[in-house]
Amino acid sequence: MNVASYFDTMSYGPSSESDAQAREWLAGNKQQFGHFIGGGFTKHAAKSCFDVSEPASGKLLAKVSLGKKADVDAAVRAARKAQADWAALSGHARARKLYALARMIQRHARLIAVLEALDNGKPIRETRDIDIPLAARHFYHHAGWAQLSESQFPDQAPVGVVGQIIPWNFPFLMLAWKIAPALALGNTVVLKPAEYTPLTALLFAELAKAAGLPDGVLNVVTGDGSTGALLVEHSGVDKIAFTGSTAVGKEIRKVTAGSGKSLTLELGGKSPFIVFDDADLDAAVEGVVDAIWFNQGEVCCAGSRILVQEGIAEDFHDRLRRRMSKLRVGAPLDKSIDMGAVVAPDQLKRIKGMVEAGVKAGAEIFQPEIEMPGSGCFYPPTLMSNVQPTAAVATDEIFGPVVVSMTFRTPDEAIQLANHTRYGLAGSIWSESINQALDAAVQLEAGVVWINTTNVLDAAVGFGGKKESGFGREGGREGCYDYLKPLVWSKLGERAAAAPNSPTAASGYEIKTVDRTAKLFIGGKQARPDGNYSREIFSPKGRVIGEVGEGNRKDIRNAVEAARGAKSWGTRTAHNRAQILFYLGENLSVREREFADRLREMTGVSAAKAQAEVEASISRLFTYASWADKYDGQIHLPPMRGAALAVPEALGVVGTVCPPEAPLLGMVSLIAPLMATGNRVIAIPSEPHPLSGTDFYSLLETSDVPDGVLNIVTGDSLELAKVLSAHNDVDAVWAFGSPELSKEVEERSVGNLKRTFVDYGRQIDWLDPKSGEGELFLHRATELKNIWIPYGE
Ligand code: NAI
Repeated sequence: MNVASYFDTMSYGPSSESDAQAREWLAGNKQQFGHFIGGGFTKHAAKSCFDVSEPASGKLLAKVSLGKKADVDAAVRAARKAQADWAALSGHARARKLYALARMIQRHARLIAVLEALDNGKPIRETRDIDIPLAARHFYHHAGWAQLSESQFPDQAPVGVVGQIIPWNFPFLMLAWKIAPALALGNTVVLKPAEYTPLTALLFAELAKAAGLPDGVLNVVTGDGSTGALLVEHSGVDKIAFTGSTAVGKEIRKVTAGSGKSLTLELGGKSPFIVFDDADLDAAVEGVVDAIWFNQGEVCCAGSRILVQEGIAEDFHDRLRRRMSKLRVGAPLDKSIDMGAVVAPDQLKRIKGMVEAGVKAGAEIFQPEIEMPGSGCFYPPTLMSNVQPTAAVATDEIFGPVVVSMTFRTPDEAIQLANHTRYGLAGSIWSESINQALDAAVQLEAGVVWINTTNVLDAAVGFGGKKESGFGREGGREGCYDYLKPLVWSKLGERAAAAPNSPTAASGYEIKTVDRTAKLFIGGKQARPDGNYSREIFSPKGRVIGEVGEGNRKDIRNAVEAARGAKSWGTRTAHNRAQILFYLGENLSVREREFADRLREMTGVSAAKAQAEVEASISRLFTYASWADKYDGQIHLPPMRGAALAVPEALGVVGTVCPPEAPLLGMVSLIAPLMATGNRVIAIPSEPHPLSGTDFYSLLETSDVPDGVLNIVTGDSLELAKVLSAHNDVDAVWAFGSPELSKEVEERSVGNLKRTFVDYGRQIDWLDPKSGEGELFLHRATELKNIWIPYGE
């Protein structure tokens, strides 16, 4: 027998981590917990509690209180009471507290790791080496942002009281992702952990108290979805940050619509794992292990859909099956296992059901013949091949150790298949060609892309999705913005009701003959409105000064189609987009007088004010022309040999409902940042004063703006906004006007989880560049994609 043969024949014996300290902690609390509110634990609610059990054995770990309205009220009150003082501390003082929390986590790392493995069922190897160290890293990283907050975010204020709802798959790591940035930037928190796995959050609350975190800054209310819903609805909460299923994320979007609450959603995924024929196949096989068998596949960004190039598919699947038969499934505290238990019996049932349905639909299934524990919530590593791209196993999140595999022939086909999903969280690309890999990376519709690696995460690198995987980013500078609001915006007053545009608005009007009705502007051409109706536009004195087309649902559909067709706008060089915007500004300047006269006629402003608005509009076009080739992202340096490129990408097709006031400047302030960053736009000009919008057609016709990049549809703002918001081919809607408009837009955006940017009826001073222009608009016009590029061995 030689040394090599030992490696083939030796099997691992169990090597169990001690759970003594974790059980002692549970026993010390009599296995009963209340909520953590205002710096102390409430009494355990014996009459209203739920059981928390070990998924590996089914044994009871603790009885935990189920948060009711009074508990949520008390926690929000405590958070509110603490918020002003916490925000008023210097960044340095907050940094010291976050640093203390990071150190506390490190000092108690093993206890947390063991408790997490017991509660969730995941292997101790992962909690010990990944979850807990990464959680500490989040607190360190964000201690840094707290320290630097005054110099790095001088124009920003904390959002206020944040309700955070987290899932059960990474209970402690998700807690860190949520709490660290919120606290760093001066917010206070009410955290609702998942009902399956609340224990490490309760332990953290205890540690935070010991670390000297002021009372009320962090509150933990345990409970189920009903507790989460109470937090979402609570009027004392300024922001909801949620991680969990897409279904619940959509529900939260609906409930918070129009409330003025900020919202970030980190939802599900069905992330592609693309293996090109020039990939290092053994590395890619190891990649699959990390992609789908890490954390039993209960990972929102799991590489759950393998797409492998046809020529190497057989070889790749053979190697993968061989590797699968070496995986070890067992007790979470056994240090030599690869996969532990699925979180709960319900989840196990769900996985089984989905796999059975997949097999019925014709998929082939491979499960290795490996030793499985006799009882508990365990499921074997599973590969499903011969899967139709439309089968539920290929489109829906299984959230278990099950990967589906499909083949492709060409790189284009790979991208098509990869993007054929309602999700857009992550993607992993395996190729030894930098050209091939980066070309695919920019085409993937996903917030995170890993090249020749997978499931790596870091506090410095933003994480978050596109499409129905949610919106917002966690980590890095980009994540900080989701816990801040612009200072000037927080001081804005309410918009006065727009004067109605009707002849009865004033007396003594005279009818002037209107010889021309402005049409709509769709796909680079003036188009008659589908309904063949037009509306009269009146001066403040009630005189008819023009007519515009009355756009309807069909016109919006045509405009969306035209905008979709103008996709190449996003792939043009930023230099080219800059030139076109400068040219648009120049052409407006040539006709300054005419546009100023129109403003006077429509709104009755003085000549000086009208001229100031036109000049500001020219300047604004120049501002965003200038930004076009400068808003270009960052390179992050996470702790690995490599880098992550944070690239801002256009949202796609964006509807903008322009504010009633400042008819020219309001429109320019919205369309210019969107166009500069590569979006295609459907603009609804000011409803009472739309003629600056229709005058804009001729500027577009003479300024080299490609057909379909900017489409203009006049009519009833609210009705058109409703159509835009419900349209599934529109990626985002910006709407400035009444609170009712904001609510409608947010509510109707649920279908495809559009990004929305609304003002809740706040009066923006468009003439003031501090509130009407700048990076806020560029930030909202783009979404960051982080492309991880490790290099070397
Ligand atoms: P879930 O989305 O129901 O639960 C996540 C969190 O939201 C928990 O804390 C829960 O108590 C809370 N919650 C539930 N309903 C709520 C409501 N109406 N308002 C406010 N909070 C609410 O996820 P669940 O049921 O635990 O898992 C179901 C499926 O969701 C999984 O099989 C998986 O496909 C997906 N999921 C995705 C996650 C991700 O990270 N993307 C995490 C967890 C689950």
